[in-house]
Amino acid sequence: MLSPQSRFPSGEEELRPRGAGGRHHLPGSRQPAVKGGIVACDVGKRFGRTLALDKVSLTVQPGQLFALLGPNGAGKTTLVRILTTLLRADSGTVLVDGKDVVKQAQAARASIGVVFQEPSLDDRLTVGENLDFHGRVYGVPGPLRRKRIHQMLDLVELTDQHDRLVRTLSSGMKRRVEIARALIHDTAILFMDEPTVGLDVQSRARIWDYIARLRDERDLTVVVTTHYIEEVAGCDRVCIIDQGKVLAADTPAALRRRYGQVLLRVTPRDEETRAQILALVPDAALDSQGSIILPVPEEGFVDRFLARFGPHIITMHLDEATLESVFLSLTGREIRERAPSPRERTYAFAQQGGEHTR
Ligand SMILES: Nc1ncnc2c1ncn2[C@@H]1O[C@H](COP(=O)(O)OP(=O)(O)OP(=O)(O)O)[C@@H](O)[C@H]1O
Ligand SMILES: [Mg+2]
Repeated sequence: MLSPQSRFPSGEEELRPRGAGGRHHLPGSRQPAVKGGIVACDVGKRFGRTLALDKVSLTVQPGQLFALLGPNGAGKTTLVRILTTLLRADSGTVLVDGKDVVKQAQAARASIGVVFQEPSLDDRLTVGENLDFHGRVYGVPGPLRRKRIHQMLDLVELTDQHDRLVRTLSSGMKRRVEIARALIHDTAILFMDEPTVGLDVQSRARIWDYIARLRDERDLTVVVTTHYIEEVAGCDRVCIIDQGKVLAADTPAALRRRYGQVLLRVTPRDEETRAQILALVPDAALDSQGSIILPVPEEGFVDRFLARFGPHIITMHLDEATLESVFLSLTGREIRERAPSPRERTYAFAQQGGEHTR
């Protein structure tokens, strides 16, 4: 439970104002203290020898659906904990809803809602009691509290579960109660740390539906962390984080254009052509149907390829750049795997884009 009045959970560092303060220097940010937005600048955090966050800077505009995408251990939860005032960074500054998370921690906490990565409901209470308790801690007056509980349970389609004990709910339902709970008080920014992890495909889709509805119906900024790359395509902005570093942040389309890998998939007419192509392009790979997959480095490549091999090709297909290919380009590996060889990279690009061609 994150309460504006509460002390920090035991074991956490105490948040103390650092140094003499002064104006924040926030390079690259358009609006340093904007309401409903987030500006993090050069945030660093180390746990012993592990550098969990390495000079992380990012800007979230008000009303944005912002995804933090990264593999296990990338630093997503550490960053969310710092942005939500639960953990103090070693260095850097963060403004959330225009408030400094160290110097104005209580004010910042009042305007954020959090869905934690780990389950955090009280299993022994009913759904309604969990939501009511949260509203009371945040000082939401009785009539408004009841109205919000009703509205939020309606949003997550759990109105009929109001009196059920939380421990009897499925994991997907518990996650939906946690989303409802994060929005009982006046939240300007909602943080969701892996809201869909471990859920079946249907429950995951449902949670993204709620997120979309929330954006339409409420004036809300939403920050979601995930390592499911397919989930971030509909977000306004995707920030790719790996080993504590921000590698890129942009719209999904811009990321695909800038870092994505377009592939040319061809079926040669004969073995001789196949051998010639493979010898000419070291990164070329073979797919399971025997087609050759070639990374397209620039637009002219396809014309040059056709000029040379056109008469010896039976089929040809261009695979669009996917977000998987963006991640692969930026990190040298797939989101859950080791670094592949150049040929494996090409094949991995092709597999990720497979739905376009099969
Ligand atoms: N309290 C802690 N003590 C020591 N190391 C920590 C602590 N919290 C996080 N770390 C380390 O910091 C790094 C970043 O962890 P973090 O939990 O932020 O990653 P994550 O991106 O949220 O990963 P996941 O997708 O698995 O949730 C990891 O190497 C992790 O082991
Ligand atoms: Mg995490």
